[in-house]
Amino acid sequence: MSIEQLAETAQAMVAAGKGIIAIDESNATIKKRFDGVGVECTEENRRAYREMLLSTPNLGEHISGAILFDETLRQSTKAGVPFTKLMTDNGIIPGIKVDKGTHALAGFPGEVVTEGLDGLRARLEEYYKLGARFAKWRAVINISDDAPSGTCIEANAHALARYAALCQEQGLVPMVEPEVIMDGNHDIDTCFEVTEVTLRSLFGSLYEHNVMLEGTILKASMVLPGTTSGDKASIEEVAAATLQVLKSTVPATLPGIVFLSGGQSDQDATAHLDAMNKAGPHPWPLSFSYGRAMQSAALKLWAQDIVANVGKAQETVFARARDNGLAALGQWKA
Ligand code: 13P
Repeated sequence: MSIEQLAETAQAMVAAGKGIIAIDESNATIKKRFDGVGVECTEENRRAYREMLLSTPNLGEHISGAILFDETLRQSTKAGVPFTKLMTDNGIIPGIKVDKGTHALAGFPGEVVTEGLDGLRARLEEYYKLGARFAKWRAVINISDDAPSGTCIEANAHALARYAALCQEQGLVPMVEPEVIMDGNHDIDTCFEVTEVTLRSLFGSLYEHNVMLEGTILKASMVLPGTTSGDKASIEEVAAATLQVLKSTVPATLPGIVFLSGGQSDQDATAHLDAMNKAGPHPWPLSFSYGRAMQSAALKLWAQDIVANVGKAQETVFARARDNGLAALGQWKA
C-alpha cells in the first residue's frame, strides 16, 4: 500500500466539519449499554441497533467514518445490504476495532496492557478485503497514587506501534488511541503530565517502528480533572490544557487528531472540541471520534421502542453529528 493512499484515507477521515462515530463496542460492552436501557443483548438486537445508527439519513454530511466491531463489519441491513456497502454509498469510511481489549499488566497491580497482536496481520488482511480502510487500537492508562508506571506507558506504546506498522503494511490507516482515563481523584495538572508522558512515549515508539505519520490518526483523550477529584475545570481551561499538551507532543505531519468522549456529557464533549477549534488554526484538524457522546441519547430513545422509534433515534444521531461537525469547525453555538 502506498503512503499516498494511506494519507488520502487519513485526510478524508478528518475532512473539514466531519468526524467519526465510534460504534465498536465489544459484545460485552454493548451488553452493558443495552442492560442500562433494558434491551436484550441478542445478535439481532445488536444488528438492528447498528442498522438504525448507520442508516441515519444524511449521516455522511457530518460523519466521515464509523468504527465497527468484528461482528458488525460482517452484518447487513434487514433488507440484505452489507453495512460496509451502506456506509461507502453514503461516503462513510468503514473502520474496525482490532485490539482484543485490556488485560492486567503482570507485576503492576491496577494497570493494564492491550492485547491482540498475535494473528493481527492475517486479521487485517481479511478486514481490508471486507472493506475496512482504517483500524483502531485502544490503550488504557489509569491514573492513581501509584499509576501510571513508566513500564505500563512503554508496554502500551510498544503495542500501539507494532499494531500501527502492521495496519500500514496491510493498507489500513491506524487510529492510535492512548486513552488516559478520567476516573480518579487526580487534578487537571496530573492528567496533563500523564498525557504528556504517554504521547511522548507513543510518538517515540511510532518512530522506532517506522510508522508513517502521514498515514496515521491520533485518537486522544482531553486533559480533565479526575471525575472524583471534586475539581471543576472550565471549558476554556480544558481546551487550553489539551491544546498545550498536543502542541508539545504531536508532530505537525500527522493528518489529524480526533477525540474520544470518555464519559463526558454530550454537551461538554461538543463544547470542549468547539472551544479548541475556536482557538485555531492548529497544526492539524481537530475532530471527534465519539462513542457515548454520539450515541447515548439515541440509544435511550430507540430502547423505548426498537421498531417505532427508529426515526426519532436517527434524528438524535443526526443532531449530535451536526453539532460535533460544527464544533470541529469551531462554529458550534450552545
Ligand atoms: P467514548 O467516546 O464513549 O469514550 O468511546 C470512544 C471510543 O471508541 C473508545 O475507545
